[in-house]
Amino acid sequence: MFMNANTAADAARAELAAHYDLTPSDAAMEATSAQYDVVKSIIPAPEWASCAPYIRAINAAKKEKDAVILAHNYMTPEIYHGVADIVGDSLQLAIAATKVEQSTIVQCGVHFMAETSKILNPAKRVLIPDSRAGCSLASSITAADIAKMRAEYPGAPVVSYVNTTAEVKAASDICCTSSNAVEIVRAQDSDTVIMTPDGYLAQNVAKLVPEKRVVWWEGACIVHEQFTAEELRAFREDHPGVVIIAHPECPPDVIDEADFAGSTHGMISYVRTKKPEKVVMVTECSMSDNVAAELPETKFIRPCNICPHMKRISLENILWALHSGTEEVTVPEHLIGRAARAVERMIAVTK
Ligand code: 13P
Ligand code: SF4
Repeated sequence: MFMNANTAADAARAELAAHYDLTPSDAAMEATSAQYDVVKSIIPAPEWASCAPYIRAINAAKKEKDAVILAHNYMTPEIYHGVADIVGDSLQLAIAATKVEQSTIVQCGVHFMAETSKILNPAKRVLIPDSRAGCSLASSITAADIAKMRAEYPGAPVVSYVNTTAEVKAASDICCTSSNAVEIVRAQDSDTVIMTPDGYLAQNVAKLVPEKRVVWWEGACIVHEQFTAEELRAFREDHPGVVIIAHPECPPDVIDEADFAGSTHGMISYVRTKKPEKVVMVTECSMSDNVAAELPETKFIRPCNICPHMKRISLENILWALHSGTEEVTVPEHLIGRAARAVERMIAVTK
């Protein structure tokens, strides 16, 4: 939930109950019927009945508090389809953060995403419903590690994945996301490029940019490192004709086995446009649910690897964030300028 101590969580729950009508009711079902229409093939009505009062309250609170909800593609369907104003991959969310008009951004995703929004919008209030929502990649590297890499490969530019802390972004030359990593590495005016912190993403990019020597940090995503090429071959055997699409945080032999690799948005676009009869999205579980809700004709085979960090975000703690104005994300003044430069350079190359 939104706090460590149960007593604090209970007090917060009691305060929410005192301010909002959170009891399942026909009126709440009615108020959320447009959102339910989108997800009714994947969420049973009794389950929606308990989400509906929260969705109604969040959508009203957003207006009242001049807030916008930016949600990553890994959010659960009731968040993704029920309360998000803008959904997307890391790059889309970073770009959206530079354009929103509301004074408060509620970031439904992990901490580095909220930090990126703050870095790009220091004047806005950025809230994250649970600040413990971290990322195994972001926690795998520090600014001191970047300095060590620079000492080992003098003069080589440092391209850091956005899945990093503000401190690491500030120590890097430019950022990248899974949707523009190839483009960013190719654009570096150097034969050697340092990529941090995702070792698999770096190796997958290196294959597509053979003209560069790519060296990397050995970080990994706890969700994507679990997939194996053997598992993908088993999907093909068990589901003849299945299309397999994977996220580039997966190990290189997994990517070799897939029909397509791309960012979470790239994967969603692929399924929306190609409309395969059967598909496996080799990534975090909720994404298949979110797309399946829109594409009832496609059969989704769902290997389920959950990101425990993304799953910290819930309707309850989103409502609490809006109600209480916590937890506010801050970035130390001395880091903001340099971190923004690395992210803005990335956005400029991508444009
Ligand atoms: P995307 O930028 O592809 O959405 O990836 C973010 C992420 O955390 C994937 O694990
Ligand atoms: Fe980080 Fe992996 Fe979770 Fe994405 S899925 S937030 S990379 S741990």
